[in-house]
Amino acid sequence: MTTALCHTGLVTLCALALGACATHTTMETAAAGTDATALYQQNCARCHGERGGGKFGLLMKLTQVDLTEEQIRERIRNGRGRMPAFDRLSDAQTTALVQLVDSFQDP
Ligand code: HEC
Repeated sequence: MTTALCHTGLVTLCALALGACATHTTMETAAAGTDATALYQQNCARCHGERGGGKFGLLMKLTQVDLTEEQIRERIRNGRGRMPAFDRLSDAQTTALVQLVDSFQDP
C-alpha cells in the first residue's frame, strides 16, 4: 500500500484520525451522477461502514442520527471534527446522500 491510495487532504485527516489509510480500497473521486449508493461507497463507507454501521466505533455510526435533513446536509458540506468536508459534491449529490443516511436509521 502506498499513500497514493489516499487522497490529498484526507491523507492527513485519516492518518491522524484513524491511522487507517492502508485499508482504503477506493479513492475519493469526483463521483459521477447522483447514485447515492455509489457516492456513499466512494466517499463515506470507509469511515461509516456499509449501510452506516460505523467502522471505527460509535462516533461513526449513522444508524441513529439525531439530526434534521438540513443538519445532515450541513455536516456533509462542511464536515465536523474529524469528518472532512465534502464541498465538491453537487446539491443533487448531497441530497441523494442525505436521503441515503435517512434510510439507514434504525426504527
Ligand atoms: C474520514 C472519515 C469520515 C468520512 C470519509 C466521512 N465521515 Fe461522516 N463522520 C466522521 C466522524 C469522525 C464523525 C463525527 C464527527 C463529530 O461529530 O465530531 C462523522 C459524522 C457524520 C454525521 C453526523 C452523525 C451524527 O449522529 O451526528 C453524518 C450525518 C455523516 N458523518 C455523514 C457522512 C457522509 C454522508 C459521508 C460521505 C459523504 C461521510 N460522513 C464521510 C467521519 C467521516
